[in-house]
Amino acid sequence: MGGEDRGDRAWRGPRLAFPAHHPTAGTLRASLTPAYLGTMSNPRRLLDDLHLRQSQAEQGGGPERLAQQHRKGKLSARERLDLLLDPGSFVELDRFVTHRCTDFGLDQQRIPGDGVVTGHGRVHGRLVYVFSQDFTVFGGSLSETFAEKICKVMDLALRNGAPIIGLNDSGGARIQEGVASLGGYADIFLRNTLASGVVPQLSVVLGPCAGGAVYSPAITDFIFMVRGVSYMFVTGPNVVKTVTHEEVTFDQLGGADVHGQTSGVAHFVHDTEPACLEAVRAVLAYLPQNNLDEPPVVDAGDPVDRREEQLLDLIPDIANRPYDMHQVIAMVLDRESWLEVQPDYAGNILTGFARLGGRPIGVVANQPAVLAGVLDINASLKAARFIRFCDCFNLPLVTFVDVPGFLPGIAQEHGGIIKHGAKLLYAYCEATVPKLTVITRKAYGGAYDVMSSKHIRGDLNLAWPTAEIAVMGPKGAVEILFKKEIEQAPDPEAETARRIEEYTTRFANPYLAASRGFVDDVIDPRNTRPRLIEALRTLATKRDRSPARKHGNLPL
Ligand code: HXC
Repeated sequence: MGGEDRGDRAWRGPRLAFPAHHPTAGTLRASLTPAYLGTMSNPRRLLDDLHLRQSQAEQGGGPERLAQQHRKGKLSARERLDLLLDPGSFVELDRFVTHRCTDFGLDQQRIPGDGVVTGHGRVHGRLVYVFSQDFTVFGGSLSETFAEKICKVMDLALRNGAPIIGLNDSGGARIQEGVASLGGYADIFLRNTLASGVVPQLSVVLGPCAGGAVYSPAITDFIFMVRGVSYMFVTGPNVVKTVTHEEVTFDQLGGADVHGQTSGVAHFVHDTEPACLEAVRAVLAYLPQNNLDEPPVVDAGDPVDRREEQLLDLIPDIANRPYDMHQVIAMVLDRESWLEVQPDYAGNILTGFARLGGRPIGVVANQPAVLAGVLDINASLKAARFIRFCDCFNLPLVTFVDVPGFLPGIAQEHGGIIKHGAKLLYAYCEATVPKLTVITRKAYGGAYDVMSSKHIRGDLNLAWPTAEIAVMGPKGAVEILFKKEIEQAPDPEAETARRIEEYTTRFANPYLAASRGFVDDVIDPRNTRPRLIEALRTLATKRDRSPARKHGNLPL
């Protein structure tokens, strides 16, 4: 036994689970470790061999590289899965897969698993598919077989209707494999696209994610990042310096805060990996398993008929004075249920998950405390994408409106507010999930139409008595309508004030809209919660659809 090389000819390995033509066929035919050669008939010895192989696979790039990963303040691929999944629920697939590359001496370095840990597990008892890139193996770089492993779990997630969660920590394309690696990326991109709107896809970036590799997370529904650990960019600082002569650090170019606050690429940013992975679990608690499933209803622990007195004192007497829409959300929705999405980006609009009477919902709300709640390019993009997510996954939309209009300015016009604002409008028009709208104060101009109005299939549109639904605000309106009268008046200021008061009494209220049925009711603000919960119940059986077509042409 010992020294005799019986290799592949003597032992063909276990029967493969994959068809013979499968690209990974053959990789399991590795010969037995020398110590076990000649003992094939002894099942216990074979089990020892299996355990040895399993533990080898679990070591990834080995103890030194693992220690290095820890020294960088990062967790290992498997430690991350332990935190993400319910204890003991992880089932690994393809742990014995190795790469097929023979260039650059890689045939001497085959590490079982090839740098990515894949499989399935449970979050809150529900099935999820996962992959976790292992930076200790060739820097987590993506080989052809690495990509095949990811594609396999993506295919399973799609076939079995379960979310897919990717933990990314990779140096990008495995340079030694060249175009085979690029093909692998494209195979993943295609699957990301085909799975979009069918199963939730969450990307957690926990290290480098650079070059074309960023486009897989970018296609998925939500991106999570960790300060000081994650970075994402299409071209790194060195290339930037060569091409544009700009000096920038990794963090300044594509760190977590850059993407959480400036680019809007990241939806959730956390200080530590455990907090980040806990947040992934928290988000999943609001989501259905797939587009044919319903989001999980929980016991709200909050009375459905709760009336909140403080809602009466929230809207300031002076129309231009801000207030914090978070307070409305906190008072109306189930207590402690608000989970804000992109909290640090485009703060003039709020997006997030919450529950009403225990049912998960998506919330979109203008935020008067930031830029008076105006709609601009970033706010439109942020809300449009969130609305489309909710519509894909059967999350009713609740919209709180206090919007003075679209932001004027050259930067906005030249930046394409027309097409970006149109995305928000399109997203609301297209959405067929239950849509509930509450106008708390301003709903002016085009922004009134856009913000889930009755005209674009709002199911229940309510207004508070403080609502002002009009083409524009009183000041702007009288300055146009009564320009001459004001100029010719002995006291233009007093004339303006008089005209504003007249306009406000006549137009800046909810009753003209209500008289046409554009709002279904004007309500006591304290009744907002019970009214919304009752509406959600009535809409539980809602059916609505758009004309059959290949797909719409979203104004991109
Ligand atoms: C092969 C790689 C690798 C890669 C890293 N390694 N990136 N091996 N292909 N892309 C290996 C290193 O050789 C090293 O091996 C180990 O991983 C750890 O890397 P270090 O450089 O020591 O780590 P660190 O200092 O933390 O730097 C991390 C890094 C750097 C910034 C990611 O490794 C790096 O710049 N890598 C190259 C990034 C890159 O250019 N990728 C290709 C981009 S193009 P040893 O044996 O020493 O431990 C691309 C196209 C995708 O991705 C297109 C999709 C459409």
